[in-house]
Amino acid sequence: MLRTNKRKLLLLPTMLLVIAFAVAALTYTAIASGHSAQAAAKITSVTVNNGEITVHFDMQNYAADQVSLEFTIAKWVNEKVGWISMLQRNRIYEEGATEVIRAGNLRESVTKDKGGFAYTFKHRDNPIDFRDGAYWTHNKPAADGAYGDYINMILSEIERHGKWDPDAIYRIGVTSRQDERFTAVTYFTGRGTTVEAANVPGQSDALVSCLSCHPGAEFKAHSNRRHDQGLCLSCHNNFTYDSMNSAAEPDGWAKIDMLTMIHSIHAGIEGYKVAKTDYSNVPSFMTNCAACHGDTTPVPVRGY
Ligand code: HEC
Ligand code: HEC
Ligand code: HEC
Repeated sequence: MLRTNKRKLLLLPTMLLVIAFAVAALTYTAIASGHSAQAAAKITSVTVNNGEITVHFDMQNYAADQVSLEFTIAKWVNEKVGWISMLQRNRIYEEGATEVIRAGNLRESVTKDKGGFAYTFKHRDNPIDFRDGAYWTHNKPAADGAYGDYINMILSEIERHGKWDPDAIYRIGVTSRQDERFTAVTYFTGRGTTVEAANVPGQSDALVSCLSCHPGAEFKAHSNRRHDQGLCLSCHNNFTYDSMNSAAEPDGWAKIDMLTMIHSIHAGIEGYKVAKTDYSNVPSFMTNCAACHGDTTPVPVRGY
């Protein structure tokens, strides 16, 4: 199920003030079981051209020339020992819910051309220049007084940690938005160098262990669209909050980073909800750290 593919680094012509790298992208593709159509995306390379990022991919077992996908991109932040999305947005889940901040994605129907399938991160047809830092696809929330201070503190953290860093490691996710269920993930530095998944920090043992109970990375959440547990961290990190269960007051936003959310879901806490789903009835595994952390003793190393 996990596939690796490494190709030679290929250097594109370099012009004055234009730096272009083509990256041999290390790819692994999760193909979900249980769905009749077994199409899969396989990322072949990532190109970093100034701050514009293009991901090239093949579609396996797939006849059509068009495919509907969502794209995510996140940066590893050493200081936070965690990920931050390079796509940010506000979120009001439904009328009456609290406006919060959450990681975003970009959705696009991509058509094959003679070079195969390729997508350049863009918003309203304009390529995004990630040298400007984390990109806001929607408005930033605003507020006055102490609540405003709280929001501004989060915004300034996002600005600081979401800065473009050529030496940082980035993760791109290519996820199906159509009947087939698949996710392809790849890692590279801002300079365009491939990074093998095994050398990426924050690939927690806890996440690898999910498969013993959730074979095929089948999660009901997100209509079972998102596979690959690493991908979850691109959004479920310190900068994503749950609009439905938050309050419009200082420290009032509900955290849904993986640690908080996955510990809480598997603890069978009375009344624990994410969005509108009540997870009170999930059996508790929280007396059995090894179920998820294996033989290692998890130590709190990050700023949760
Ligand atoms: C010891 C078995 C076990 C392990 C290990 C485990 N889970 Fe679960 N998980 C369950 C059970 C049982 C449920 C509740 C039944 C259900 O909804 O599938 C559940 C529910 C969930 C849900 C909510 C329902 C859904 O499918 O969206 C998520 C998300 C989830 N688990 C993610 C994870 C992740 C991520 C990991 C790894 C860090 C993990 N689980 C490890 C047993 C496990
Ligand atoms: C593109 C960002 C993104 C990715 C990728 C992502 N999530 Fe989420 N997820 C969210 C947000 C944001 C919410 C809260 C609801 C909302 O605002 O849409 C959420 C909600 C959830 C919920 C609660 C859903 C409900 O209705 O009860 C679970 C469980 C969950 N995510 C698990 C996962 C798992 C497991 C993965 C990886 C396989 C994952 N998510 C990947 C952004 C993401
Ligand atoms: C259902 C799966 C599951 C169980 C059971 C579980 N954890 Fe975790 N744990 C996670 C996930 C998921 C993360 C977040 C990993 C990440 O963000 O990369 C995590 C992270 C942690 C961390 C943070 C590690 C770090 O890198 O900062 C600590 C500490 C931790 N768990 C302690 C525990 C302890 C103690 C227990 C038993 C009482 C436990 N966990 C049981 C899933 C689980």
